[in-house]
Amino acid sequence: MLKALVGYYSRTGNTKKMAQAVARGIKKEGLLVDLLPVSKIKPKDLLQYNLIIFGAPTYYGTMPGEMKKLIDESVKYHGKLSGRVAGAFTSCGGIGGGSETTLLSILEAFLIHGMIVMGESGSYHYGPVSIEKPDKRVIVGCELYGHKLARLTKKIFGNSNFSAQSS
Ligand SMILES: Cc1cc2nc3c(=O)[nH]c(=O)nc-3n(C[C@H](O)[C@H](O)[C@H](O)COP(=O)(O)O)c2cc1C
Repeated sequence: MLKALVGYYSRTGNTKKMAQAVARGIKKEGLLVDLLPVSKIKPKDLLQYNLIIFGAPTYYGTMPGEMKKLIDESVKYHGKLSGRVAGAFTSCGGIGGGSETTLLSILEAFLIHGMIVMGESGSYHYGPVSIEKPDKRVIVGCELYGHKLARLTKKIFGNSNFSAQSS
């Protein structure tokens, strides 16, 4: 069965609410989803997933150090995540607060891992964004994002018994 990871960092709960909505969207497409704070994720764990989406608050226009640490430690498996699907979402303090640079900082790392990133021609070009606590519109956007990336994952990996670990 195809497996997805929604990894997040959240101090005051805003990004966590987004993460829960993204996970719900993925589940609707029938993938197995693990929803975990980055503190509970070890670099090796990443190898078991076909789809990996990270969510973080915007901190000084980039991802928080805790998430960057995990990504830096994932160098041990550099090349092994190639061809998996990836995405990102963020909660920030205000418009123009660096949300898009934060999304790009996460997506950049995933691209360097060789992962597949999908943009959006409508709103949320780089991934869902919330100003502080997500409202209903953001929650729906997060669910749709999870749904969309899960569908892409199914297109790429099919419904076969592909094991991400063995690729
Ligand atoms: C250390 C720190 C740095 C922050 N830097 C920014 C920033 O550069 N731009 C911004 O819009 N908000 C910034 N914020 C606000 C958070 O991104 C925002 O409150 C977010 O909703 C918190 O998400 P959380 O509830 O998941 O922790 C910062 C907050 C903290 C604690």
